Amino acid sequence: MTLLIPTIAGTRAALGADREAGRTVGFVPTMGYLHEGHASLIRRARAECDAVLVSIFVNPLQFGANEDLAAYPRDLEADLALCKREGVDVVFHPDVEEMYGGRARFCIDVGEIGDRLCGASRPGHFNGVATVVAKLWNIAGPCRSYFGEKDLQQLVVLRRLAASFDVPVEVIGCRIVREPDGLAMSSRNVYLSAEERTAALVLKRALDQAAASGERAGARLAAMMRETISSEPLARLDYAVCVDTETLEDAGHVTDRAALAVAAWFGKARLIDNMTVTA
Ligand code: PAJ
Repeated sequence: MTLLIPTIAGTRAALGADREAGRTVGFVPTMGYLHEGHASLIRRARAECDAVLVSIFVNPLQFGANEDLAAYPRDLEADLALCKREGVDVVFHPDVEEMYGGRARFCIDVGEIGDRLCGASRPGHFNGVATVVAKLWNIAGPCRSYFGEKDLQQLVVLRRLAASFDVPVEVIGCRIVREPDGLAMSSRNVYLSAEERTAALVLKRALDQAAASGERAGARLAAMMRETISSEPLARLDYAVCVDTETLEDAGHVTDRAALAVAAWFGKARLIDNMTVTA
């Protein structure tokens, strides 16, 4: 049975009962409008843990003033159906008041790592992500928490968050789920027109071509990807980089900890993608 719980206290009580019964908890934080990418995280949690918690909360703190907070797609009914199908035990679905209302509110500053890559065009975004995930982890309690590698920078920031504050959570990265034609699944793909949807394939193409080129100098790989993405008229490049997967600093040369990462706008949708590369 899947419980839909709108309160922090109710979620704590439900999970408390699980822990008393000796059940381990797997936690998948989301902003809803669930797709196969989210489902893959839920399935992994289902396979590895006794009780599965999914949170659905569109977190205003991580949206900039000119971003798509109001337009962010929502479909609670479909989300619940997916959670039921995947055997989720608890869906925590608070409103903004429940999460941020009333109480004195501190925010987490993730520092310089939040300013690079996506952070450069989304100032404050990762502070908002870290703050809400810190709250969610406090509500969930000790658990294994599952995140997609699609949001590589988010994953790196959250690993550091857990380590920085000794949070009793194991952060688990899960591989990117793609559409059959290669586009990384994203709730924001619904913003794309048919032409933009086709154009967006340039992200994966840029990653594939660079990875397969045999080139292993970071700057040249980045230049190659920039060229590919810039050749697509409907794409507006944000960044194309080759970075160390632990520090997110530019990788001078590809090592076994390097990733290619790209971001571009297609109309009003800003899409990201990445791929690990080997030496
Ligand atoms: P959201 O964009 O809903 O994503 C929830 C989780 O699903 C994230 O860990 C994300 O990386 C993962 N995910 C999304 N698309 C994926 C794909 N194609 N393949 C694999 N995993 C994918 O990320 C957030 O929400 C928020 O920032 C959140 C962490 C919930 C904090 O508000």
